[in-house]
Order: sequence, then structure tokens, then C-alpha cells
Amino acid sequence: MSTRRAVCPGSFDPVTLGHADIFRRAAVLFDELVIAVLQNPAKAGTFTVEERVAFVREVTADLPGVSVTASRDRLLVDLCQELDANVMIKGVRGSADYEYELPMAQMNRHLTGVETLFLPADPRFAHVSSSLIKEVVRYGGDVSGLVPEPVRQGLVDRLAP
Ligand code: PNS
Repeated sequence: MSTRRAVCPGSFDPVTLGHADIFRRAAVLFDELVIAVLQNPAKAGTFTVEERVAFVREVTADLPGVSVTASRDRLLVDLCQELDANVMIKGVRGSADYEYELPMAQMNRHLTGVETLFLPADPRFAHVSSSLIKEVVRYGGDVSGLVPEPVRQGLVDRLAP
């Protein structure tokens, strides 16, 4: 039987415990899960892609079958083809995420036939996004329990007042 491999893509700038929950749940569903850290041209990065990859590696170190890769300046569908993965996984917190994700899922399927599976976010993390986390830290707020501890420290070092 062939290996069931899925890709979990995102900018992860930085990874949150909401992302980590999706990684853990997706890892159970597939033999191999490749987390792909990508540059989103619409978003200015706070952390470099290498820094984001390091944070994701830390948070997934105990998950069997999970690996992390970076991809720049190319289509996600091309990465999926290179990895021989015909499925990608996205977490969805609510209708705004769905509206944002649906056209990307449809475009990706149009381009190569790759399917996107949506996992409903755990309600504990429904309010957690990388951009909101960064805003809270920028104004001195506490994000403990919403991001992994090394990420919290990295955010404070880079953004806190
Ligand atoms: O976490 P994000 O920022 O919502 O993730 C968006 C991301 C990085 C998955 C998307 O911008 C992407 O796929 N970028 C790679 C380039 C690409 O394939 N663009 C066409 C998408 S239909």
C-alpha cells in the first residue's frame, strides 16, 4: 500500500498552539505529514522563514511521521507534486477563514488536482491568530498558553515595548 502523505502549509509567522493542535490531529490521519513554511507575499514577515521552521520543529519534535520544510518563490502545488502529496490540510476557525481558504483550495485543485481538507479548529484556539498574537505582544500583553513558550520568548524579544 502506498504511503499516505499530506502537506500542512502556512506562513506560521509564528506558529501558535492552534496550529500545533492541527498538526497533532492531522498527524494521526496520515502516515506522513509535511509542514510547509511558506512566504505569503501579502504579509510582511516578523520572523525569517528559517526562524519559523525552527519554531515549528520544536513544537512538533514529539510527533511521529512529521517533518518540516521551507518553500519560497514557488507555488504550493509544485511543492506538493515534488513531495508526491495529493492532499493538503488547513485548520478553519470560522466562516472568515473558510471564505479566505476556499478560493485557494479551488485554485490549487484547478492547477494540479490536489485536494484540501479542512479541520475545524478546537474552540479553545478560535481567537488565536499569528497576527493578533503579535499585536497583543507589541502592546505588552501576555500570550502565555496561546503560543509555545520558545515562541512567546522570541516574540517578546522582538516586539515587546
Ligand atoms: O498562513 P497563511 O499566510 O494563510 O498561508 C497562505 C499560504 C502561504 C498557504 C499561501 O499564500 C500560499 O500557498 N503561498 C504559496 C504561493 C502559492 O501557491 N500561491 C497560490 C495559492 S492558490
